[in-house]
Amino acid sequence: MDKLFIFDTTLRDGEQVPGCQLNTIEKIQVAQALENLGVDVIEAGFPVSSPGDFNSVVEISKSVTWTVICALARAIEKDIDMAAEALKFAKRKRIHTGMGISPYHIKYKFNSTQDEILKRAVACVKYAKKYVEDVEFYCEDAGRTDNVYLARVAEAVIKAGATVVNIPDTTGYCLPTEYGEKIKFLKENVKGIHNVILSTHCHNDLGLATANTLAGVINGVRQVEATINGIGERAGNTSLEEITMILKSHKELNIDTNINTRNIYPVSRMVSSLMNMPVQPNKAIVGRNAFAHSSGIHQDGVLKNRESYEIIDPNDVGIDENTIALTARSGRAALKHRLTILGIEFSQDKLDKVYEEFLKLADRKKNVTDDDILVLAGKDRADSQRIKLEYLQVTSGVGVRAVASIGLNIAGEKFEAAASGNGPVDAAIKALKQIIRRQMTIQEFLIQAINKGSDDMGKVHMQVEHNGVNYYGFSANTDIIAASVEAYIDAINKFVK
Ligand code: KIV
Ligand code: ZN
Repeated sequence: MDKLFIFDTTLRDGEQVPGCQLNTIEKIQVAQALENLGVDVIEAGFPVSSPGDFNSVVEISKSVTWTVICALARAIEKDIDMAAEALKFAKRKRIHTGMGISPYHIKYKFNSTQDEILKRAVACVKYAKKYVEDVEFYCEDAGRTDNVYLARVAEAVIKAGATVVNIPDTTGYCLPTEYGEKIKFLKENVKGIHNVILSTHCHNDLGLATANTLAGVINGVRQVEATINGIGERAGNTSLEEITMILKSHKELNIDTNINTRNIYPVSRMVSSLMNMPVQPNKAIVGRNAFAHSSGIHQDGVLKNRESYEIIDPNDVGIDENTIALTARSGRAALKHRLTILGIEFSQDKLDKVYEEFLKLADRKKNVTDDDILVLAGKDRADSQRIKLEYLQVTSGVGVRAVASIGLNIAGEKFEAAASGNGPVDAAIKALKQIIRRQMTIQEFLIQAINKGSDDMGKVHMQVEHNGVNYYGFSANTDIIAASVEAYIDAINKFVK
């Protein structure tokens, strides 16, 4: 079987999504889970973009052993210097540099010419080669670039020393046939192409990211760039779980990856939980309904023989239907075991804290599921916040106006207020605004149940606008009014320092 390299960009392209930002500790947690998943390359960040990103690449480099760590850099010397510096502790390292090469980029972004861009492309590869052996060049917007010019760029950067040439469909515009032909054209017309690895990087603007990636693979690409749950700029990137399971299911393609597919589901849950980014229920492979047979005909068929309606065994992607839910009687060891399966290792201190929260939740809820545990595991982020909710009392009902009283702790000082409103959340937020007198408006307010049942936790995502900037807040609680107010406070904490 041919080997396909999996390049994961969850921590770079995926993390660019507004509201999905992770701190360094969380990024290390994801990077280690990706290494255990078996990805070949982790794109850990874009070091020049911020000190936080720089530091994350440094720390991820220290904490990962086998996987190649890659840092993004535009075709600018300063970017490449910073990428090389951030990678200094990586055992295996790669610089991913490049620039826009489509007419849109050359004319409007760079106000330049094809020949000039070609020279800059060559120069940046040569510059990166001074630092590392493994240099990947991205031909940004290759999807809308004429194949003859794309081939010229590919040939020139290979000659300059690029080890991987990335052909991004940056805008998600290509059709699968068109993208496949692009790869075939490069394979047939670029001198030196057989000595390097060609890579896909497909965006999902038309829902074609996975189909285009597959067309690339069928035509000879041997690296795919993907993200967990398909997150990424705008409509996202190719989803790692989809491309992996396509190749595992279609053995006739004769292409294999290193992915340990049984880790797919836990990593998907971890990324969704840390980034507060829900996975759509019907998402292929990892969505809540991906293996749920609801119609009577399907249920009957599956009970008689699973393969009647199932092409993937849920166990193969790490969905264990026999998982025993934790209850109020479960001990610390059971919780620790469950966290380990979910890819989370905690110090004893942190485990004790999460266990305390777990017991409180288990008192309110009969069965505590993996999703609940992931929410609890991320909860102590609130401990260090400046504004904390001390108490909230709300009365509401049919035919009465809702009234709320609220207590906040702001940097150690206590504040109280009460207000009435058009429903319990409105009343609570009006009371809160009497204490925090800032101009702010809710732009998006999403409430979702995590699992099922009236005792379930509700997850709330909130987008709040302040001074023209959007801030994102999240909370989960069995009381959805409390979760709404906590999510609002979480967003405010991002701009009230
Ligand atoms: O979409 C894109 O073209 C990119 C490049 C930076 C690889 O993300
Ligand atoms: Zn991208």
